[in-house]
Amino acid sequence: TSLLILNGPNLNLLGQRQPHVYGATTLAEIEAICRAKAQAMGLGLDFAQSNSEGALVDAIHAAKGTHDGIILNAGAYTHTSIALMDAISSVELPAIELHLSNVHAREEFRHVSYIARVAVGVICGFGPAGYELAIDAMARHLEARK
Ligand code: DQA
Repeated sequence: TSLLILNGPNLNLLGQRQPHVYGATTLAEIEAICRAKAQAMGLGLDFAQSNSEGALVDAIHAAKGTHDGIILNAGAYTHTSIALMDAISSVELPAIELHLSNVHAREEFRHVSYIARVAVGVICGFGPAGYELAIDAMARHLEARK
């Protein structure tokens, strides 16, 4: 079983970016946490980030046949991208929508999600720990489907 964790725009700046909102942990640190968690659970893991919507679409397409589930923190594209929503529908892989912050406690425009419409579920508001929760949730989802 292999998971893809995909991170969208501006998440490369984690640690420096609005730390009062997103915390002090860098994306490299989050990746290390995820790799340790996946290894302990016996799961394969790829972890990637792109600022470009098309590259994220390409990464979702490439996951078909190579990965069993996608954990997606699409950043601001969550709230705008029909293309990412369609990409997830197209590959027919289970996806979990993830956010560091509790988007529902923030601006109205962050309450809208195209990803949620095609996701198994949504995890938000738990900071970096959300990535570990999402790995757990995806493993349980895949196990339950067997
Ligand atoms: C985010 C929430 C989005 O609304 C925002 O645009 C981000 C980060 C989060 O992880 O909290 O870039 O996805």
